[in-house]
Amino acid sequence: MMDSESVRRDFPTVRKGLGIYLDSACQSLRPDQVIEAMNDYYENYPACGGRSVHSMATKVSISMDETREKLASFFGTDDPDCYVFTKNCTEALNIAAFGLELNKGDVVVTSDAEHNSNHVPWLQLSDSRGAVRRISRSGEDGMFDLESYQKCIEGGAKVVSVQHCNNVTGCTNPLKAITEIAHDKGALVVVDGAQAAPHMKVDLDKLDVDIYCMSVHKMLGPTGMGVMYGKREVLEGMSPYMLGGGIVGLTTYDSVNYAPIPDRFEAGLHNYAGIIGTGAALDYLSRVGMEDIEKWDSMLMERMMRNLEDVKNLHPVGPSEPRLRGSVFSFNIDGLVSHDIAMMVDSMCGAMIRSGMHCAHPFYVSRGVDGSARASVYLYNTPEEIDVFTDTVIHIAETFGD
Ligand code: ALA
Repeated sequence: MMDSESVRRDFPTVRKGLGIYLDSACQSLRPDQVIEAMNDYYENYPACGGRSVHSMATKVSISMDETREKLASFFGTDDPDCYVFTKNCTEALNIAAFGLELNKGDVVVTSDAEHNSNHVPWLQLSDSRGAVRRISRSGEDGMFDLESYQKCIEGGAKVVSVQHCNNVTGCTNPLKAITEIAHDKGALVVVDGAQAAPHMKVDLDKLDVDIYCMSVHKMLGPTGMGVMYGKREVLEGMSPYMLGGGIVGLTTYDSVNYAPIPDRFEAGLHNYAGIIGTGAALDYLSRVGMEDIEKWDSMLMERMMRNLEDVKNLHPVGPSEPRLRGSVFSFNIDGLVSHDIAMMVDSMCGAMIRSGMHCAHPFYVSRGVDGSARASVYLYNTPEEIDVFTDTVIHIAETFGD
């Protein structure tokens, strides 16, 4: 069992009592270890990596290599060069979508519950290049529907791009099955792992997906950091999305040859403090243990949903069964707008949640729902915090709801 008290001591905003943070699906808190690693960079070796050969820069280059090695080991793979640093999951998904060079008539299969980051790039590619989109429909409760997916991919596809866990419903997609079916049809599998990577053990080798994108700022890491993993042969076949220094072997006035992976996708100077902080975040998550973190999140989610299940005018968006919800609980209260719920819980008990459409507009619009309040948990939350939050939500529902 995770040592919650010891974990909580590592987080400055928790130590200072700065409220009940229930917005980790948007961005997580950071422990001292991550902040200190970044400060150490700024104070002691604030140079560039991968370019200059002086001692400070060499230390940065070595740190970048170390973070890639940690990523490879954290995600169960053995090739550090398959990890590309990006500024967030959105950028990673854009690099994937535009780098895979879809042409007129190429089919891409997505789902109806994707985040805009895994929806708008494909929409744009369909408008600009004539790629054909097929959208797999989820069940009433938001669960991935393998039958609908199979119909979408029946005639073949070039790419399947789906999320691993949903940021509204919390549903976890059957990635192994999705990938096997896609590969049978000759399609590459791109995954938006933003909501899964922080909360469960993700073994990319076993999952066998071709590209997996994530946001490090949801994984205790620095803001402005993401990662795109790709199988070597897939990355080597992709075009760079951003062009400039650092991604080339040699250029002449009239020609360019691109550097090997991962440099090919990392144009310009980097967020070196962020890359170093990413390494520290991975160390932290590994030390606590992803299995224990997943169990802790599930326990908190179960408690939150059980506490609220008898509130008649409160309606979950997504499954009503906690074990299907990962670490996010989205809900509405009759007669209240989600932003009002969020502001009320903040002012009444200091709980910070997110509200609105959570960058999943098509999902809400297709269901005729205006948005939702969303509470998301992580390793630094406690059962006591959940009770304070749910008592407040019950009070709001009884007092201000219809
Ligand atoms: N996509 C992130 C969220 O769901 C920002 O909050």
